[in-house]
Amino acid sequence: MMKFAYADPPYIGQGKRYPEKTEVDQEGLINKMTHLYSSWALSASSSSLKQLLSWCPDDVRVAAWVKPFCSFKPNVNPAYAWEPVIFWHPRVRGRAILTVRDWVSANITLKKGLVGAKPPEFCFWLFELLGAEPTDDFCDLYPGTGIVTQTWELWKNQKEWVSKPDLPESKS
Ligand SMILES: C[S@@+](CC[C@H](N)C(=O)[O-])C[C@H]1O[C@@H](n2cnc3c(N)ncnc32)[C@H](O)[C@@H]1O
Repeated sequence: MMKFAYADPPYIGQGKRYPEKTEVDQEGLINKMTHLYSSWALSASSSSLKQLLSWCPDDVRVAAWVKPFCSFKPNVNPAYAWEPVIFWHPRVRGRAILTVRDWVSANITLKKGLVGAKPPEFCFWLFELLGAEPTDDFCDLYPGTGIVTQTWELWKNQKEWVSKPDLPESKS
């Protein structure tokens, strides 16, 4: 069993947009996740990537959430239409497992009442990116709307069902 963490804290410089009104110590967060979990992923803004990578273990990788539909802000051109997902030590998978891409294309969610809420398509991809299995332990460190954990439960059930289908016997 592996122990996964997903961290989706306020992006660097964005703490003021949440009720806590504080910046998260992301260097401390990365250290903690590296010591306490077998594998982790961290969502970030592309503009904070240089800073964050300087705090990461050497063997991290960077995946991308590409957003075909995203918010266009006045005088921000080019628009920020993708976000990095830094990930560390995904499960090593054999050739029998489908290869997952290191990017996902998914529209942003609207009207969830929380800046930075992730769409379910993103969550489904995240679990595959990390090579999670239904028996793994998954900790959503900054739950916000709770969608990541809700989707984890759904994903787990689907995976379990596919691997052990309790189907009635065929009569033919
Ligand atoms: C980007 S949102 C998480 C979104 C979540 N992944 C989702 O899809 O709904 C960041 C969350 O961290 C919380 N937060 C902000 N500052 C924090 C702090 N200093 N410590 C702990 N949580 C914080 C925010 O209130 C918010 O719920």
